Amino acid sequence: MLQNDLIIRTLLGQKTERTPVWMMRQAGRYLPEYRVLREKYGFFERCQTPGLACEITLQPVDIIGVDAAILFSDILVVPQAMGLEVELIENKGPILPHPIQTAADLQRVRVPDVHETLEYVFDAIKLIKQELNGRVPLIGFAGAPWTLLCYMVQGKGSKTFDEAKAFCYTQPALAHQLLQMITDTTISYLQAQVEAGADIVQIFDSWGGLLGPDDFEALSLKYIRQIVTALKDRVPTIIFAKGAWQSLPEMTATGAQGLGIDWCIKPSMARLLTGGEVTLQGNYDPAKLLSPITVIKKEVKAMLKSFDGSRHIANLGHGILPNVPVDHARAFVDTVKEYGMVSTQW
Ligand code: CP3
Repeated sequence: MLQNDLIIRTLLGQKTERTPVWMMRQAGRYLPEYRVLREKYGFFERCQTPGLACEITLQPVDIIGVDAAILFSDILVVPQAMGLEVELIENKGPILPHPIQTAADLQRVRVPDVHETLEYVFDAIKLIKQELNGRVPLIGFAGAPWTLLCYMVQGKGSKTFDEAKAFCYTQPALAHQLLQMITDTTISYLQAQVEAGADIVQIFDSWGGLLGPDDFEALSLKYIRQIVTALKDRVPTIIFAKGAWQSLPEMTATGAQGLGIDWCIKPSMARLLTGGEVTLQGNYDPAKLLSPITVIKKEVKAMLKSFDGSRHIANLGHGILPNVPVDHARAFVDTVKEYGMVSTQW
């Protein structure tokens, strides 16, 4: 039994005492306690060791007081399980030394048995659930097939992912074959996360905003829809497609209970585009957490007001930055919690 199920009730469209709050990338480098473990262990070692993944997942729950835990892992463990080498280079980001560019390259990729390749994730989830002991829900996650294809083809981070796009535009049959393989893997991966204890799942389409509306439908949403369809009746499901706000109506139609939005769209516009039928999550500009605390408090209140206090999960519009002071992150969370308490007095 969950003691704090605010996020779940909000996702199901129920009225709650206050707006729930968590932060994307809440387990990360802005926390000194995380940096200690980062000195000692490699990134994938932290992901693959259930005890470490559990400890890191719980840090923001204990230190910041968020209303949900999110599994400490990475979207790139899926390409790894599908047979690709992935490295995380300090201050450079992910590198895939042998990306997919030809039909021959695609031969190296497989739809794996997730229990054979990713059991460490499910073990971490079981341990986290035990340690959380019902304090807050646990969010499981995966990358959207389009965002994973971006890394699998480009082989590294990019502002444009031009090589990934060129792959889709010049070899569409191969691209769709790869997208479907990622989708099939992701469905079994997320289903196994739910079986292990994840209470909610979020799909991160960080690069959805690089696609125009028609391409977003063809290369991204077509596959996200399959994932949502497989999951949404088992656990509340959130789609976060950064920058793809033009497709909010189509994302609403998938039946996902929640949609993440970034800071470039006004909440009122997002409500209009979603017909008030889903819970919206977001949308504070993560860089604004570098402002003085008094400014953060004022702006967070303004954000809460603009979401009207219903069907809203307070969050950032993208991941928290490593240089955010811990007390600024805490001020963000505390302001949401206090605002709810003040408004319910009336
Ligand atoms: O939200 C959480 O706290 C859960 C953990 C989580 C991580 N990555 C840990 C991580 C989640 C949900 C992710 C998702 C992820 N990973 C995305 C989608 C969300 C987004 O931010 O757009 C993407 C695109 C990745 C791929 C990835 N992993 C990149 C581009 C990088 C390097 C950039 C960076 O922030 O350093 C990573 C590394 C990574 N994943 C770190 C963490 C805490 C930093 C690792 C470190 O240096 O300690």
